[in-house]
Amino acid sequence: MVIIMTGATSGIGAEALKHFVKLPDAKVYVGARGSGRIVPEGTDVLPLDLSSLKSVRSFADNIKRRLGSTKIDVLILNAAIRATDNTQRSEEGFQLTFATNHLAHYLLARLLWPIMAKGGRIVITTSDTHDPAIVPFGPKSLDPQELAYPNENSPKGMRYYAATKLCNLLTARSLSAISSKDKRDILVIAFNPGLTGGTSLMGKQSAFMKGLTTVFIRPLLSVVSIFIPFLFVGRPERAGETLAALVLGKVVPPTDKMYASLVRGKLTFPDPSQLAQNNDVMDLLWKESAAMVNLPEQE
Ligand SMILES: NC(=O)c1ccc[n+]([C@@H]2O[C@H](COP(=O)([O-])OP(=O)(O)OC[C@H]3O[C@@H](n4cnc5c(N)ncnc54)[C@H](OP(=O)(O)O)[C@@H]3O)[C@@H](O)[C@H]2O)c1
Repeated sequence: MVIIMTGATSGIGAEALKHFVKLPDAKVYVGARGSGRIVPEGTDVLPLDLSSLKSVRSFADNIKRRLGSTKIDVLILNAAIRATDNTQRSEEGFQLTFATNHLAHYLLARLLWPIMAKGGRIVITTSDTHDPAIVPFGPKSLDPQELAYPNENSPKGMRYYAATKLCNLLTARSLSAISSKDKRDILVIAFNPGLTGGTSLMGKQSAFMKGLTTVFIRPLLSVVSIFIPFLFVGRPERAGETLAALVLGKVVPPTDKMYASLVRGKLTFPDPSQLAQNNDVMDLLWKESAAMVNLPEQE
């Protein structure tokens, strides 16, 4: 089984990776930017910096060269960042969080789509922050151009990040729609791990903050989350285990469900946000993303 993965060097992805390296028949390729983090033995790490479309293209070429005629069974698009401000730019000049979380993964999925195996799986990690019905700062509209080149009135911080997670969900839906016309029967899932503590996404925590989180904040939020479920702080081990279970087909989404969401540690299959279900918004993002990465709209 060939598994290609981004975001495997830390947090939820690193926990999922532990499950893959145990498999006797798995060949795992991790795309990573060389931040010095260590991956388990037996994993092939190939250079990939998602803040550069050029790097994404060379990673895809590298994978194709190595695989020859072998196909990809599983593609996991899990990496993400939350840039500190909207002025940070990718190599090609797009807002950094949009470029890393969405554009790079969009391009990678499109470049590797032709070599996906029959019955393969693509899992894209999204977030319940994409849904304003669950998280108050979730996006209520989507303008890909504004995300790519934000102005001073554009969403910032978590609101901006949440919009890129909506892009992940919409891309998963687009791929799922393409898959339904493709004889290879590729299953596409968007996965929400839910608020997860102990990862690098929110930045470095001091030893004091870590202690405070364990002793006070996590137990407090656990009680509060009975009423406001998205405030439950899960563990990366649980999120990684669930991601691995979805990827390996140990858990299969019900027919017609493509959004898998961990809610208070329990895997559920709700509908995504109303905006995420909007086909016009989905098609607009696909079309504008294609233009941004210089690909035709269709294969
Ligand atoms: N943690 C949460 O509360 C939460 C909630 C909902 C959804 N999620 C989603 O879960 C996924 C994993 O997040 P996490 O919390 O596990 O975060 P994390 O610990 O920060 O891991 C992020 C991963 O992305 C990689 N990455 C970032 N920028 C990259 C780049 N330019 N090129 C290549 N790789 C890059 C990181 O690599 P390095 O080792 O080089 O840094 C790392 O492996 C993300 O999609 C996130 O949006 C997380």
